Amino acid sequence: MTHLFDPLTLRGVTFRNRIGVAPMCQYSAAEDARPTEWHLAHLLQRSLGGAGLVCVEATGVLPEGRITPTCLGLWNDAQESSHARLAQAIARGGAVPGIQLAHAGRKASRRPTWQRGPAEPGWEIVGPSAAAFGDYATPHALTPEEIEALPKAFADSARRAVRAGYGFVELHGAHGYLLHQFLSPLSNMRNDAWGGDFAGRSRLVLDTSDAIRAVIPDQMPLFVRLSHTDWVAGGWDTEETVALSRLLKAKGVDLISVTSGGLDHRQKIDLVPLYQVPGAEAVRQGAEIPVAAVGLITTPEEAQAVVAEGRADMVLLARAVLRNPYWPAQAAIALGRPEALVPPQYDRGWNDWGKLPVELAVAEPMPAL
Ligand SMILES: Cc1cc2nc3c(=O)[nH]c(=O)nc-3n(C[C@H](O)[C@H](O)[C@H](O)COP(=O)(O)O)c2cc1C
Repeated sequence: MTHLFDPLTLRGVTFRNRIGVAPMCQYSAAEDARPTEWHLAHLLQRSLGGAGLVCVEATGVLPEGRITPTCLGLWNDAQESSHARLAQAIARGGAVPGIQLAHAGRKASRRPTWQRGPAEPGWEIVGPSAAAFGDYATPHALTPEEIEALPKAFADSARRAVRAGYGFVELHGAHGYLLHQFLSPLSNMRNDAWGGDFAGRSRLVLDTSDAIRAVIPDQMPLFVRLSHTDWVAGGWDTEETVALSRLLKAKGVDLISVTSGGLDHRQKIDLVPLYQVPGAEAVRQGAEIPVAAVGLITTPEEAQAVVAEGRADMVLLARAVLRNPYWPAQAAIALGRPEALVPPQYDRGWNDWGKLPVELAVAEPMPAL
């Protein structure tokens, strides 16, 4: 039986355990979309907390693909060198650093979630069709030439991610952003080669995965994040997600991160603990590909059960690790699997809690500020 704290190896990369920090937008980039001290402190802290992987937030492959003007980008040299510092810091904390490459499509040009509304000044948004998301602006429907340029934009960023030192790349195909907009019949009304049936709607995701796989090392894992359902009748569904995952596996994708929703404002989601795990389980069984499960997994026992019962190969945490970066180190103690996860600098903090069986990590030398 697999344990939450058993390592996981995908291609040439070994994750020290099966807990990942899910990608989370921080809306804290510098004006030129570079990571800042906020990202460094935030992500290094979560790596030091004991996770097996830390995935950097949705990062635009093109300026117009950012969700907000303060989202990260990775389309130029200056951004690449800042990402190199970030990737190195995460790796020093013990987690494998990865990056989620994204294009927000018709959900771009917004303000941070805590402000809401359109960005000012904003920019022209794009999508498969001239159909708006809820009360957002109506996007420009991409021309065939514009669509054909997208896989290369993702591949260019992936090449930069490799040079920056990331250990894996994730393609964002979920939450109603551009690639998901192509997948769902609710947002893709095209009747050319990128729309219509399942094959047409899936084409951009498959071509983009191909383009990324071609420029990253053979030993580097490629993840794809998919919403397994739109939670709206007539939308993208779990069956199509399984079918697409099977095709992605054949293209050299190593793991599907299974989430849901975000495409249509009419979605109705029953937000109960582990609410997206059935989607992960369906993909794992139906497509025979490793999966990560995410969504209201908050206790060590829940996370352990998901992995031990073979419902997913790893779990990702988002809000729980915002509240507590040391969730993984504390989970190891709670599950009776002392792991060398506690930074030795913090030894007294943990031991003063009552002589817990704490194992200390090795302190990595850190560069001076
Ligand atoms: C602050 C915040 C930012 C997020 N940003 C992203 C993102 O950049 N990319 C993404 O795929 N999901 C993003 N998500 C979704 C999370 O990765 C995760 O799937 C979701 O929060 C459910 O997991 P949880 O119940 O553990 O929070 C974000 C969630 C939060 C709370």
